[in-house]
Amino acid sequence: MSEYFRVRPSQVQFLKTVPFYHQSKDGEFILYKKSGESLGMDRKLQNRYPQLFINKQDKKQALEELTRGLNLEFARQVAEGGLVQIKTALGNIVREALTPGQATAMLALPETIDILLKNVDRDHTIMAFLSKISSVSDIVVEHTVNVTALTLQYCFSMGISEKETTTLALCALLHDVGASTLDKRILETKRRLSDKQFKKYRAHPETGHDLILLKTDFNIAVANVALEHHERLDKSGYPNGTGISCHESQLIGFIDCFEALTYREKAFRKAKKPFDTLNLIKGEVMAGKFAPRIFKEFTSCLI
Ligand SMILES: [Fe+2]
Ligand SMILES: [Fe+2]
Repeated sequence: MSEYFRVRPSQVQFLKTVPFYHQSKDGEFILYKKSGESLGMDRKLQNRYPQLFINKQDKKQALEELTRGLNLEFARQVAEGGLVQIKTALGNIVREALTPGQATAMLALPETIDILLKNVDRDHTIMAFLSKISSVSDIVVEHTVNVTALTLQYCFSMGISEKETTTLALCALLHDVGASTLDKRILETKRRLSDKQFKKYRAHPETGHDLILLKTDFNIAVANVALEHHERLDKSGYPNGTGISCHESQLIGFIDCFEALTYREKAFRKAKKPFDTLNLIKGEVMAGKFAPRIFKEFTSCLI
């Protein structure tokens, strides 16, 4: 396994203390920037630096520095930025948290939620707009940010306590963490999945559940939601078809479904207007898949 990890352009500005390396033509890794040395703003601004790498031994320090930097940037954008900047900054945090092998980034999510709850006033219209604008290119990241914004919109409009809001936001941020290990072709296809691909896709709730239990000590609801967000009350869902054990799973499962139908467009199904989605989900409520109470509460918070 390689001893070096690629640094994404969006990560460069946050990694101030770790050394950077670049690769020579014959594949040798050469020191590009010493520990603690600045990269130089002119090079950064003009995007003139080559593909940069960090050494495996610096990964832990780099991740701590990165997640701290991303949260600081997010706080700055929440305090002064426009909605696009806030969504982009939140998307950058979610992208790191959903990257396999980056538990440090997952563990920094409560701080992200804290920044949101302390700085965004509880006027839910901000969250409503945040879920509608598109500033993130990665489908799972965009979906996760939208589900989180809609969840917070619901929490603010229902007057839910800060403690429960924090748990629900964490549930939303990590509900699809298991999908981060899937092949991009499965996640981003506009065609129907083959049976083999679908089988892999249907395993993401269990993968996410195990990852959260193994790597974090978050409220047990966070792992439960990762496992149960595709389960349905009438036991028609997956991965186990055994129904839903907690309130958080019902809510995030409902919002997950609403977001996917409203904002995702696939070749075999056009994205819908929120009202049309609610009409479609109403049928699912009547069929016993979702709780009527959640449907009513969520509909009222969208108005
Ligand atoms: Fe999912
Ligand atoms: Fe999802």
